[in-house]
Amino acid sequence: MSELLTINSIDVKYGNIQALRDVSMKVDEGDIVCLIGANGAGKSTLLKAIVGLEPLTNGVITFEDTKIAQMRAESKQRFRFRRNHDILTTDKIAEMGIALVPEGRRVFTDMTVEENLDMGAFMVRDEKVVARKKEEMFEFFPILKSRRKQKTRSLSGGEQQMMAIARALMSSPRLLLLDEPGLGLAPLIIQDIFQKIALINREDKVTVFLVEQNAKIALKASTQGYVMENGKIVLSGDSKELLENSKVRAAYLGE
Ligand SMILES: Nc1ncnc2c1ncn2[C@@H]1O[C@H](COP(=O)(O)OP(=O)(O)O)[C@@H](O)[C@H]1O
Ligand SMILES: [Mg+2]
Repeated sequence: MSELLTINSIDVKYGNIQALRDVSMKVDEGDIVCLIGANGAGKSTLLKAIVGLEPLTNGVITFEDTKIAQMRAESKQRFRFRRNHDILTTDKIAEMGIALVPEGRRVFTDMTVEENLDMGAFMVRDEKVVARKKEEMFEFFPILKSRRKQKTRSLSGGEQQMMAIARALMSSPRLLLLDEPGLGLAPLIIQDIFQKIALINREDKVTVFLVEQNAKIALKASTQGYVMENGKIVLSGDSKELLENSKVRAAYLGE
């Protein structure tokens, strides 16, 4: 399989805090890859770096053959007034086919379900395509269809998560990034959501990269896994093998 996303030795800093340290990983086309790690490990920071929301202080991120993010601290100092063309904007990265479902869902609660879906298609110019995509989403998430005219704030947590995923899919991404899709949801709802994620991957051929604190469900849902501690990748491999790994079992599965 070909590599869709390649992360090469990246560092990200928040002031003096180094949130990511020499992180390298890859996501092959067609796979579901997971990144597990405790709260504060750096998982969300990695997703933000991929979509251009946090600058790199070292390293490169490549999507297929295009560099989408690259260290810019140095060039910023040297060429303070030069626009840095090595870094794509978040909009451009979205246009290339990467969609992020952010942590905590972040749906627009004042808008209706349908308006949220329209927002997800902001870069699709053909209205017919938007309408078709919306119908597809309603078919795939029937609960959203029955609530299409309702304000999103009236939805349950699980429904809001489905809404956030549907919104991300409106742009027909090739790579779907999910930040803790199971966070704060009941086990049965989490199962529903992970079933949907599996279908999106299998039937729509969308490559998935998901980050989770819930190691068990993430490793079961994926083919490849990475483990992050304090901003560093400390383990990686086949998800099945990681599930059997004694360190993973002790640290993340409470065994
Ligand atoms: N905007 C920010 N400013 C300063 N520190 C931050 C910011 N966002 C995250 N951090 C810190 O970076 C580290 C990694 O955070 P984060 O990527 O959110 O971890 P995770 O998603 O794994 O819980 C944590 O120590 C967190 O406190
Ligand atoms: Mg997070």
